[in-house]
Amino acid sequence: MNSQKTADAKKTGNNILIVYYSKTGFTKKYAEWLREGLSKDMSCDLVSYKKRKKISFGEYDIVVFGGGFHAGQINGLKWFKAQLNKMSGQLKQGRIAVFATGAMPAEMPDVEKTLRQNFTEQEWTQIKTFYLPGGLCYEKMGVGDKLMMSIFRAMLKEAKVDSQMQQIVSHSFDITSKEAIIPIMEWCSNAAFQSM
Ligand SMILES: Cc1cc2nc3c(=O)[nH]c(=O)nc-3n(C[C@H](O)[C@H](O)[C@H](O)COP(=O)(O)O)c2cc1C
Repeated sequence: MNSQKTADAKKTGNNILIVYYSKTGFTKKYAEWLREGLSKDMSCDLVSYKKRKKISFGEYDIVVFGGGFHAGQINGLKWFKAQLNKMSGQLKQGRIAVFATGAMPAEMPDVEKTLRQNFTEQEWTQIKTFYLPGGLCYEKMGVGDKLMMSIFRAMLKEAKVDSQMQQIVSHSFDITSKEAIIPIMEWCSNAAFQSM
């Protein structure tokens, strides 16, 4: 993960790592958009969760982790949080972010609560968090996830309460948007500025 650009960016505190855990592609799409959208004087390594063992956290000034929500939990976050002790004190001062993608529209009231429950008080103050609306893709889901979704749909139907949610999970859809990454791009620029 080394290049001349990486070496130059490292000197200026602009070396960014994005790690993503993506099952059906929504989180991957956002991670790629984020890399494309970053300022040209930043160097960015994009690493999928499957290749996480190759990561050397000491090389980076800013670290961003992305994962999809799965029954309220962020995929891969447990592993990511276990890596915090490998990150420098400087990195921990406002240079770590996590984004979660999900099927919920960003304006749904549950978004903040669902994000929040994935972090302790201390982690919540240390890590900047973002929510990015993803969608659902039944075509790319594994068997276990398809089964979980069918149980969830049956529970909603049985409860006869949340018709909005019933409607949301009844089919595949994609609510990703490039505009949604603007706050993370701005956060990365500010974090890079602070590390100079
Ligand atoms: C079994 C299962 C559980 C899910 N749980 C949630 C959830 O709690 N909240 C949510 O907003 N989306 C939930 N989703 C939707 C995914 O988070 C959404 O599709 C996400 O963007 C997937 O990202 P990925 O394809 O990059 O892994 C769930 C999807 C599945 C298949």
